[in-house]
Amino acid sequence: MIDCDNIIQRYYTPGNPDYRVLVIHSRQVADLAVALCRRLMAQQPTLEIDVEFVREAAMLHDIGICQTDAPGIYCHGTQPYILHGILGRQMLDQLGLHRHALVCERHTGTGITAAEVVEQHLPIDPPRDLLPVTLEEKAVCYADKFFSKSHPGEPPRTLERVRRSLERFGGGTMARLDELVALFGDVATLTID
Ligand SMILES: [Fe+2]
Repeated sequence: MIDCDNIIQRYYTPGNPDYRVLVIHSRQVADLAVALCRRLMAQQPTLEIDVEFVREAAMLHDIGICQTDAPGIYCHGTQPYILHGILGRQMLDQLGLHRHALVCERHTGTGITAAEVVEQHLPIDPPRDLLPVTLEEKAVCYADKFFSKSHPGEPPRTLERVRRSLERFGGGTMARLDELVALFGDVATLTID
């Protein structure tokens, strides 16, 4: 088990607005991702999901935002926001947290393919796939879509609203969203403790 708050406090100061945004959002994602995994395991008892790892990785998935230029969420770095997952991966790799680091890199949108990097002129060079692969990575990626960092603490979005928020990223993103919905189900029917 790792001490997520200790890791977050290497880069963020409690009391500052960016810390607040990050921690409130990450707790919401962690609680939802864990609840989705528990429901899935109840439905399919042969599946093995490392739920404690899901909680930790969800707490750290957005740790890279502090390096990005996103004043709306109190982040005053220099990097484009789209890179926050890759930046988070680098930060956690440096701490030896390679498995958690991959969750950072693979959670943006519903993942991003190398082809989408090229088509959408994303500043990821060289272009490569940044797709959630494991159930743990998919759970964090999916749960994240239901919460906004601009409005931390708000209840989860409806699935319809999630769909609308992702439409502009194209058919591949939406097809992967459909796969995540088929795997984990909607969140509207879920009780989160
Ligand atoms: Fe997030």
